[in-house]
Amino acid sequence: MSILVTGGAGYIGSHTCVELLNAGYEVVVVDNLSNSKLESLSRVKEITGKDITYYKVDILDRDGLETVFVENSIDAVIHLAGLKAVGESVQIPLHYYHNNITGTVILCEVMNKYGVKKLVFSSSATVYGIPKSVPISEDFPLGPINPYGRTKSMIEEILRDLYHSDNKWSISVLRYFNPIGAHQSGRIGEDPNGIPNNLIPYITQVAVGKLKELSVFGNDYPTRDGSGIRDYIHVVDLAKGHLKALQRILTNTGVDSYNLGTGIGYSVLEMIDAFEKASKKKVFYKVVERRPGDIASCYADPQKAKEELDWVAEKGIEEMCRDAWRWQENNPTGYEVKVLVK
Ligand code: NAD
Ligand code: UD1
Repeated sequence: MSILVTGGAGYIGSHTCVELLNAGYEVVVVDNLSNSKLESLSRVKEITGKDITYYKVDILDRDGLETVFVENSIDAVIHLAGLKAVGESVQIPLHYYHNNITGTVILCEVMNKYGVKKLVFSSSATVYGIPKSVPISEDFPLGPINPYGRTKSMIEEILRDLYHSDNKWSISVLRYFNPIGAHQSGRIGEDPNGIPNNLIPYITQVAVGKLKELSVFGNDYPTRDGSGIRDYIHVVDLAKGHLKALQRILTNTGVDSYNLGTGIGYSVLEMIDAFEKASKKKVFYKVVERRPGDIASCYADPQKAKEELDWVAEKGIEEMCRDAWRWQENNPTGYEVKVLVK
């Protein structure tokens, strides 16, 4: 069975490819490498001992996508390709709407043309915006507060409309909470461009000595220690969630959304502590003002995924920190290979 993974060279995509290959699926990847390096796929092959068919194609390129469907007998699509930087989405919203939404529409049109109506889509907990309470369940109202989040909620609506127009479609919408960590081999992981926006890549770069100190964004939230609380989930658990969603769409029709999180929230200060223990490194930090747009607390009610997908996150915070650190320590420059000139 052949699965097309869009955005497969990226952070979550590369881990998803490993799980798919290990489970015996054939994998075809489409990625324009706008936020990733092909080296990640070489390492996926190294980890699994299996091959991947790769196309350097942009999902906005209809002809390029059609070639992929003509040359491969695709059974289902896991669609991760998208732009994801919140701050950038505020600066260049049209680029985000075009890439994420138009890209998804073109992908669905091409899938429709080739009779492939099974789709797993990467959404985000960001679609909930400022939740009325925690834990957050799937029936909470959606109210994203930035253009990136709006691309995700608009795509979710488009996919619901698509199913209602043709109930042969089978679509799983996965709302990820905060993916962190890396494959236990230390060969693939998160490789952000420039200075990281997200907490864990920032912490690992402080620990490895690339950055001086972490800024903790606020210690006056109404939380147990005043810092923000999030639901961090190991990227390998998240990747496994895609396989469970795939199994469901292969045997059912419908459109369903699932929270992929652990259901447990940790604060920024607790994450620093956990990371110091896992890495045996000091993480220097200072407390600064709150980051605009941040919320105090965000964690999932993952019950629906447990009941309908038979999926639960298994890896705890120590493993997440240990694996994030192994990746950072073994790959201080990410996937970039430093060429030493004599
Ligand atoms: P990533 O940037 O590492 O991976 C996305 C991949 O998509 C990249 O390899 C990029 O080159 C590719 N891509 C982007 N636009 C494309 C286009 N037009 N055509 C072809 N390829 C394109 O990000 P990630 O963290 O692996 O995220 C994967 C998906 O999950 C994204 O849709 C993201 O919005 C979503 N998501 C991520 C997080 C997170 O914290 N990492 C949280 C919630 C949701
Ligand atoms: C961010 C995005 C969200 C996206 C998610 C993916 C914003 C506003 N939101 O969410 O849309 O889906 O990443 O993982 O960017 N923190 C610090 N110092 C830092 C970085 C972060 O204290 O240098 C704190 C934040 O205030 C927050 C926590 O760490 O309390 C986690 O932050 P981050 O990793 O950026 O994730 P989110 O804010 O949850």
